[in-house]
Amino acid sequence: MKALVLAGGSGTRLRPITHTSAKQLVPIANKPVLFYGLEAIADAGIKDVGIVVGETAAEIREAVGDGSAFGLDVTYIAQPEPLGLAHAVLIAREYLGDEDFLMYLGDNFIVGGIAPLVDEFRVHAPDAQLMLTRVKNPGAYGVATLSADGRVVALAEKPERPESDLAVVGAYLFTPVVHEAVRAIAPSDRGELEITDALQWLLDRGRDVRPTVVTGYWKDTGNVEDMLEANRCVLEILEPAVEGVVSADSQLIGRVRVCAGAEVRGSRIVGPALIGPGSVVTDSYVGPSTSIAEHCRITDSEIEFSIVLGHSSITGVRRVDASLIGCHVEVAPAPRVPSSHRFVLGDHSKIRISS
Ligand code: G1P
Repeated sequence: MKALVLAGGSGTRLRPITHTSAKQLVPIANKPVLFYGLEAIADAGIKDVGIVVGETAAEIREAVGDGSAFGLDVTYIAQPEPLGLAHAVLIAREYLGDEDFLMYLGDNFIVGGIAPLVDEFRVHAPDAQLMLTRVKNPGAYGVATLSADGRVVALAEKPERPESDLAVVGAYLFTPVVHEAVRAIAPSDRGELEITDALQWLLDRGRDVRPTVVTGYWKDTGNVEDMLEANRCVLEILEPAVEGVVSADSQLIGRVRVCAGAEVRGSRIVGPALIGPGSVVTDSYVGPSTSIAEHCRITDSEIEFSIVLGHSSITGVRRVDASLIGCHVEVAPAPRVPSSHRFVLGDHSKIRISS
């Protein structure tokens, strides 16, 4: 079995971070979200992985390389335009050959991995296997309707009036019959070839599409709220460790990891929290569910429930909360006189001022 990992798309809901970085590479607990998916694929015993890439191809290639770091053999497949998930299958036809395959959306974060999905597929040998989970806002996803005996009877992509609360999670298993389906369907109203429509095409022809309903944690990390939530969830199981330096006048409470080369001085860190390699926290408070990436400076500040990417500095600011801060960002107070806010903000930035 091969895997097809989708790592194209433009990540509009994570702008401005995604102006300069692929959405699949935004870190959760200081590790790109895509890496969790690749690890889950390796854990499921799959070795050959085709990664579909778009305008951020260079970055994804640089981060993943030939896949050997994950025990995978990676082939890159270029998708010149993001024309939908079923379009990705269409252009990967040659790579996939006539094998069964796993399709995995590179911005999905699935706790517990995909082994249950792969096991069910192997046991029951359906035409396709879907992973479903109950959500509060099904209208934001593909939605499945199940029969009383638990079979998939209908699927709809982001319906206005969802028939159930079962969302389609971004991991699917297919037999080669899906190639016929993706060739047969037409683009949706949003101009994309929807995998949901390809699955509906299979259902309409009496094909067996089986669900695996999971109760574990799942997030489509397309927006900031979901990123923060996925980050919180991974930090909950963080192994506490002090590999760097923590001064005697500092306090670490709960699950805190201070990575190699990091320094904590005169500060209080309430876990779960992660201080990345080479980062320095001085006279500050770092609160729960916070990941600070590598080579950051947090000085005389308070921050919690946030993600800070590499090489950023936060100085004299209280309090930063529920924030996603990119690489090489500086946050600092303006001079007292004149009393004003001073900004150099990238396109699509979002800021909330409390004064
Ligand atoms: C895609 C699929 C949708 C699925 C979701 C999971 O949505 O079209 O059916 O529920 O991924 O993340 P998109 O991310 O393209 O909005």
